[in-house]
Amino acid sequence: MVVHAVCGHHHFALGYLVLYPGLGNWKGLLPGYNYLDNEKQTAFANGQTGWTGVHEWEKEMARSDAKFGPIFAKFASMPIEEVAKDPQALKMGGRLFASNCSVCHGSDAKGAYGFPNLTDADWRWGGEPETIKTTIMGGRHAVMPAWAEVIGEQGVADVAAFVVTNLDGRKLPEGTKADPVAGQKLFAANCVACHGPEGKGTPAMGAPNLTHPAAFIYGSSFAQLQQTIRYGRQGQMPAQEQLQGNDKVHLLAAYVYSLSHGEKAVAENAQ
Ligand code: HEC
Ligand code: HEC
Repeated sequence: MVVHAVCGHHHFALGYLVLYPGLGNWKGLLPGYNYLDNEKQTAFANGQTGWTGVHEWEKEMARSDAKFGPIFAKFASMPIEEVAKDPQALKMGGRLFASNCSVCHGSDAKGAYGFPNLTDADWRWGGEPETIKTTIMGGRHAVMPAWAEVIGEQGVADVAAFVVTNLDGRKLPEGTKADPVAGQKLFAANCVACHGPEGKGTPAMGAPNLTHPAAFIYGSSFAQLQQTIRYGRQGQMPAQEQLQGNDKVHLLAAYVYSLSHGEKAVAENAQ
């Protein structure tokens, strides 16, 4: 976007990123917009108010929706796997991802602490094309209960020790006072209902696989595991249906699907 300081008009560079932004990302990018919450509404060089700026921006958005809407609609009528092979669709999906998703999942979609990697083979809610779309449309709210008051501090240590040693094959830190055998009993009694008998997870509940270090978003060290088990976790993926609408979510689902199913991704994940 080029802002003409003299005339105060803002011209949009033609790119889907600027045409289809998440509202939040516009704060600061659009002159005047970031002043909306404040009393001060004269951020434009010509004294134009922030409200006028937003009005202009909405008109601009309506024009670009008219222009690109039919392209979105065309892709929305195709199966997600097909869309995921179309270079134009992936380019548009990638731009949508950059402006709406990368703030949490990272610009490379590889996630961060608390935010899942979307490029690998580990799925908390399932990696089928339609499941990915369901996740993005409706959002997800994971509920991992807190266990400190149920099994006690020693129980937390024991079950964490079981997760570390038996499910993942690693050793406990030197001098740890925790008993993996007692932990196994606690796991069978309290955890398998959600994480499955072998701890490999239950996508219908968003209960992750606990046997694969890369699947953990809150860390898989003995200390981090105890923290998670003691206090519980409530990961939330915000619903996009209202914000983006079906057609853009369809493109986003195809883009996300392509990240772990393109030829390059399959080769990388096989390593
Ligand atoms: C009611 C279902 C439920 C039960 C019972 C449950 N969990 Fe969970 N657990 C979940 C869900 C859902 C998540 C994902 C939380 C999130 O994404 O924020 C989770 C996440 C975790 C994680 C974090 C994984 C990561 O990504 O870092 C650990 C560790 C864990 N559970 C261990 C346990 C242990 C040990 C028990 C038994 C003491 C247990 N869970 C019982 C549902 C459950
Ligand atoms: C505010 C942060 C945030 C934003 C923005 C966000 N996500 Fe998420 N997303 C999350 C969190 C947190 C989870 C994990 C929820 C859980 O604990 O199960 C998640 C989970 C997911 C999953 C499920 C992954 C799995 O392993 O099953 C997909 C797919 C996904 N997000 C796609 C997207 C897309 C596409 C966008 C952009 C339209 C987006 N997310 C925007 C936070 C975010």
